[in-house]
Amino acid sequence: MSSARTITVELGDRSYPIVIGNGLLGGGFDLGPHLAGSDCLVVSNTTVAPLYLDSLMADLDGIAVESISLPDGESFKTIATATTVLDSLVHSRANRDTTVIALGGGVVGDIAGFAAACYMRGVAFIQVPTTLLAQVDSSVGGKTGVNHAEGKNLIGAFHQPRIVLIDIGTLGTLPDRELRAGLAEVIKYGAIADMTFFTWLEENMPALLGKDTDALAYAIQRSCEIKAEVVAADEREAGRRAILNFGHTFGHAIEHCQGYGEWLHGEAVAAGMLMAAELSDIGNTDLQRFRALIAAAGLPATPPAIGSKAMLHAMGMDKKVIQKQLRFVLLEELGRAMVTAEHDRSRLLQLLEAAD
Ligand code: NAD
Ligand code: GLY
Repeated sequence: MSSARTITVELGDRSYPIVIGNGLLGGGFDLGPHLAGSDCLVVSNTTVAPLYLDSLMADLDGIAVESISLPDGESFKTIATATTVLDSLVHSRANRDTTVIALGGGVVGDIAGFAAACYMRGVAFIQVPTTLLAQVDSSVGGKTGVNHAEGKNLIGAFHQPRIVLIDIGTLGTLPDRELRAGLAEVIKYGAIADMTFFTWLEENMPALLGKDTDALAYAIQRSCEIKAEVVAADEREAGRRAILNFGHTFGHAIEHCQGYGEWLHGEAVAAGMLMAAELSDIGNTDLQRFRALIAAAGLPATPPAIGSKAMLHAMGMDKKVIQKQLRFVLLEELGRAMVTAEHDRSRLLQLLEAAD
C-alpha cells in the first residue's frame, strides 16, 4: 500500500474523511473505527464482488460481515433493488448499530446509501467506490437514491457516509469506456470551479487515459477537494451545490429518454455539459477549448437524436425546476459556474432541435 492522502468533508459532527491511496483494499486499512458496531452488510454487484469482496473482507477482521450482490447496471437502480437490500438487512436481523458498506460504482453506492438512509430511519454507511466516476463524485456528498420510470434519481435521501475509502488500484480492472465516463465528471470540476485544473487536464489527458497512477491520484484528489468544499458550504443544495449538476439537466434527460444504460451517465453528462456551455455566453474560443477537452477524453460532444419534445418533457422533472420554471447551471466563464433561470429560450430550442 502506497501512502494515502486524506481530504475532510467538513460537516460539523458529521464530518468525514475521504482517504485516497493505491492498494488500500486488502492492504490492512482498518475500517473498524468507522463502523457503528460490530456487524455490517456489504452491498456490491455481480461484477465487482468477485473482484474485490475478498480483499474488503480481509480488512474487516473481527467484524460480522453479511454481503449481498446486486444485478449490475443502471437499469437496476430501482426501488425494487433497494428493497432487496432492505430485505437482506431485515433477514440478517440488523440493528441500528449495523453499518452498510457500498462496494462498487455509483449505482451500487446510490442504492446502498438509500437503503442505509431508510433502514430503521438511518444506519451508518461507508462508501468504497470502485469506478472513477464514483471516486470523484457519487461517493462524496451524501446524495443517495434510485430512479423512477418518470425520471432519474427522483426517489432519494441525503445520507452522508462515515468514510469514503478510495483505492485507485481498483481502476486497474475498470473498462476504458467506464474510465472515460468518469473523466466527464472530472472535467466538470475544472469547468465549473478551477481553470488551473482544467488546464492541467488538457495537459494530462493522455496520462489519465493510460491510467497513470500519479495522474489519477491528483485528478481524484482535486475533484474531491472541490466537491468537499461545495458540499460543506451547501449540504442540502439550497443554492451553490447545484453547480455540481452542470450538464446534468440535459444529461439526465438523455439517460431517461434513451432508456437507462444505453449511454453511460458520464457520456450523457459530457454531451450535456457542452449543451449547457453553448447556452452560456463564454465565447467561441473557450467553447472550442471545452469541446476539444471532451473529445480528447473520448467522450461524445453531441447528444443522441431524441427530439426536442421528449427532451423538454424529461427536463421538466429536473430537481432544479422551481414553480414550473427550468433553471440551468451555466458558465459565467470557463472555470466559473452559476445557477440561473435566465436563458435564451430560442437558443435552447435550437440546441434541442439540432439533436432531433
Ligand atoms: P456503475 O455503478 O454502473 O459502474 C459502471 C460499471 O463498472 C458497472 O458495470 C460496474 O459493475 C463496473 N465496475 C465498477 N467498478 C469496477 C471495477 N473496479 N472494475 C471493473 N468493473 C467495475 O456506474 P458509475 O459510472 O460508477 O455510476 C453512475 C451512477 O452514479 C449513476 O446512476 C448516477 O446517477 C450516479 N451518480 C450519483 C451521484 C451522487 O451524488 N450520488 C453523482 C454522480 C453520479
Ligand atoms: N453530483 C451532484 C451532487 O452531488 O450534488
